Amino acid sequence: MHPRLEILILAAGRGTRMRSDLPKVLHKLAGRPLLGHVVATARALGAAKTCVVYGFGGEAVPQAMADGTLSFVLQAEQHGTGHAVKQALPQLADDGVTLVLYGDVPLTHTTTLAPLVAAAGSGKFGLLTVNLAHPDGYGRIVRENGRIVRIVEHKDASPAERAIQEVNTGILAVPTRHLKRWIAELRNDNAQGEYYLTDIVALAVRDDVEIETHQPQHDWEVLGVNSKAQLAGLERIHQNEVAQRLLAGGVTLLDPARLDVRGSLVCGRDVTIDVNCVFEGRVELGDGVQIGANCVLRNVAIAAGTRLDAFTLIDDATVGEAGRLGPFSRIRPGTRLARDVHVGNFVEIKNSDIDAGSKINHLSYVGDTTMGQRVNIGAGTITCNYDGANKHRTVIEDDVFVGSDTQLVAPVTVGQGATLGAGTTLTRDAPPGELTLSRAKQQTISGWKRPAKQKKEG
Ligand code: UD1
Ligand code: CA
Repeated sequence: MHPRLEILILAAGRGTRMRSDLPKVLHKLAGRPLLGHVVATARALGAAKTCVVYGFGGEAVPQAMADGTLSFVLQAEQHGTGHAVKQALPQLADDGVTLVLYGDVPLTHTTTLAPLVAAAGSGKFGLLTVNLAHPDGYGRIVRENGRIVRIVEHKDASPAERAIQEVNTGILAVPTRHLKRWIAELRNDNAQGEYYLTDIVALAVRDDVEIETHQPQHDWEVLGVNSKAQLAGLERIHQNEVAQRLLAGGVTLLDPARLDVRGSLVCGRDVTIDVNCVFEGRVELGDGVQIGANCVLRNVAIAAGTRLDAFTLIDDATVGEAGRLGPFSRIRPGTRLARDVHVGNFVEIKNSDIDAGSKINHLSYVGDTTMGQRVNIGAGTITCNYDGANKHRTVIEDDVFVGSDTQLVAPVTVGQGATLGAGTTLTRDAPPGELTLSRAKQQTISGWKRPAKQKKEG
């Protein structure tokens, strides 16, 4: 049987070196707060309870993160990691195990944490350590005859201890009943005058609780964020990991170093993505989809065989099979493009349904429109959907041909198979099958002379 797993996330620190008014754990990595990554990890581990210890920034952290599944505990003054854990102890069940994570350490894999939880589940102390070439600043793992005896913080360490390269990541899992007893015994008679969570290691040794150490697969899994430079560094590490996963799944990335996924990107077979594309929210690309350079896609599903040329922006929309979009197309929320739709340069489409085989190839605005099949929209066509107060719908039925530079003043309907002459300002419905146009008659004034420039006096 699995013991009840409860997770504490320490997130009370100020983060002075971020030089920001925003609490450190709310700064974003891959479009999501650092703390959000840790909460997602807690969820993936199946935590029965996840408790966030917050402090700096007041209610900003609970306000940003509250979702009904998290508990929040205020640590009003920060007297150390042991003191932080102490604030949350009343929230924890005696018969469970507690895993301690950090709100500013976002990239730890669940496969790294699971063995710690398993150790705690069998009554042991699970501790995550890592060997660093430059261990300065970290707590050192002190071993005697190979067995861990205590952790000494850098500021309290002797020169010999400072030479130790195995350091404490801070991440640990223990049976909660032991944790409660040990935390009550912590003292702050050390270099920083703080209650160190790390001192529970020596107490475990005293109580003959076996300490099992594990190491992460990658060192960066335990890196924390203390500055904007470190945040940018972890962002790249994370994006590289996402890119490698896509490559392993068969996606062609023209340059894996120039890809940004801020959410989830799900790809079919034989998808190709050119450089500098940004994917936000949930994006799905069907088989054979090709994405040109510098596209930005947010909450989009694109069906098989569709090609996006460079600089295409799509937000909250669906795109059917075998479409051709871009370069420089902008598709806004509420748009559905059916199969085989072509959208060209400098075309904006908002909240519209465009049916199969229709083409809007140049310089147009289509908003609040229902468009049928095989419609051809000429260059410079504009749906005038807004009268200054309300939005109105335009309906364009199957097989309509709209000439260039046409304005459709909504609400208005263009009947099936109708043709609108170039330059038309359509204010009333156009009947099906007929040519409708509004245009001043063309005339020629023969013998007309251009005015000549007059000579200045003096
Ligand atoms: C801690 C460890 C050290 C380890 C290092 C890894 C202790 C005493 N030391 O040191 O062994 O090598 O992490 O990075 O635990 N926090 C609170 N409330 C507090 C103090 C800290 O919530 O009162 C949170 C901070 O927001 C931060 C984390 O705990 O996320 C670590 O605190 P920090 O002060 O950075 O600990 P270190 O001195 O780096
Ligand atoms: Ca730290």
